[in-house]
Amino acid sequence: MKEQGETHQLVLLPGDGIGPEVIKAAESVLSTAREYLGREGIELSWQAKPIGGAAIEAAGQPLPDETLAAAQAAKAVLLGAVGGPKWDRLAPHERPEAGLLGLRRALSVYANLRPAALLPGLEGQSPLKPSAVRGLDVLLVRELTGGVYFGQPRGRKGEAPNRSALDTMTYQEGEIRRVAHVAFRAARRRQRRVTSVDKRNVLETSRLWREVVEDVATEYPDVQLEHQLVDSMATLLVLKPQVFDVVLTENMFGDILSDELGGVVGSLGVMASASVGDGGPGLYEPVHGSAPDIAGKDMANPLGAILSLAMLAEHSLDLPLLSRAIEAAVHEVLRQGLRTRDIADGSQGEQVIGTREMGERVADALAQNFHTRQALNAAYF
Ligand code: NAD
Ligand code: IPM
Ligand code: MN
Repeated sequence: MKEQGETHQLVLLPGDGIGPEVIKAAESVLSTAREYLGREGIELSWQAKPIGGAAIEAAGQPLPDETLAAAQAAKAVLLGAVGGPKWDRLAPHERPEAGLLGLRRALSVYANLRPAALLPGLEGQSPLKPSAVRGLDVLLVRELTGGVYFGQPRGRKGEAPNRSALDTMTYQEGEIRRVAHVAFRAARRRQRRVTSVDKRNVLETSRLWREVVEDVATEYPDVQLEHQLVDSMATLLVLKPQVFDVVLTENMFGDILSDELGGVVGSLGVMASASVGDGGPGLYEPVHGSAPDIAGKDMANPLGAILSLAMLAEHSLDLPLLSRAIEAAVHEVLRQGLRTRDIADGSQGEQVIGTREMGERVADALAQNFHTRQALNAAYF
């Protein structure tokens, strides 16, 4: 039971492309949560701010001061997606993506949790054989504020045909240590296995990565640690993804492998994520991008955004029961056969609906869930 009179202030950053569409759908779910939390004396409020291309248009930069200040003052931030063809010719630091990277860094959310599992009813959506994905339940822990995404120096020089470009992949020991702790602690709540992914046969950063992870592992004798090289891991994730529990890796490898997991489960649209640091607001975002190919068509799957909201409730609001209730509502609409286009396979009993309606149906299922609990007179939060 939560204390009465608590207030949770959130910031929504819809961003670009399908970002605003999936955030609007998540907002339907938030509105239902607010209504029922309010009855328990827990106040939920939110405001939206521009980021990415939308912020470039509105304020001339991808992460306006006002957006950053609001995010820093919030309990948690829910982001849609940034980027699009319109801003693709801008210099790296002016691009929509720079706004997102700047936000992650400013909030110090160094651990990005990207779970991958088959949602009930979507088992057949995976392109892999049922035997390869049965029981799939992976938590990818991606380092988020270091590595080649942020390393200096970087840039370009010279003129064609003699141009050159430089990126720097660098890791401090402490950056590896802190995210490794997140992975080992998560493993303790799961199957107690960590697979650390690197490229130590080639990269210096990976050699340091492996040494530090092994050192951290000594503090978790109850957790089993193994290592994989990233190229081999890419194969294993399609051959036998269900053998993995927690997968720990650096920033760029994690970016790539998490999209691969989206393919493994059958759609990027259902993949959620939580980015957390040491206290401070968490950042929650679906794994997918702004999907310019389907933007503005009410076709995007909002479940990744809605499940990110469930992660927000758990990790930043300390409302695990709200989190479970949102997940249960998602499962319920899937059980009813409701599908966005990306997760439809033409099977009997399925009904293809748009982004907005999917949000509304999940919100309805959540309300139903609360209503049933209250009818049973159960203290819920
Ligand atoms: P993408 O993830 O936007 O799209 C890849 C494919 O998946 C597309 O075919 C798209 O239609 C589909 N897809 C993605 N999300 C979906 C959803 N919710 N429902 C149904 N289908 C979905 O990747 P991309 O096309 O390579 O990148 C487009 C833009 O998004 C780029 O500017 C990129 O930088 C940006 N991006 C942003 C984020 C983020 O903001 N977190 C993440 C990835 C890419
Ligand atoms: C993601 C995205 C981002 C990343 C881009 C948009 C900067 O691909 O969140 O996976 O590479 O981290
Ligand atoms: Mn990505």
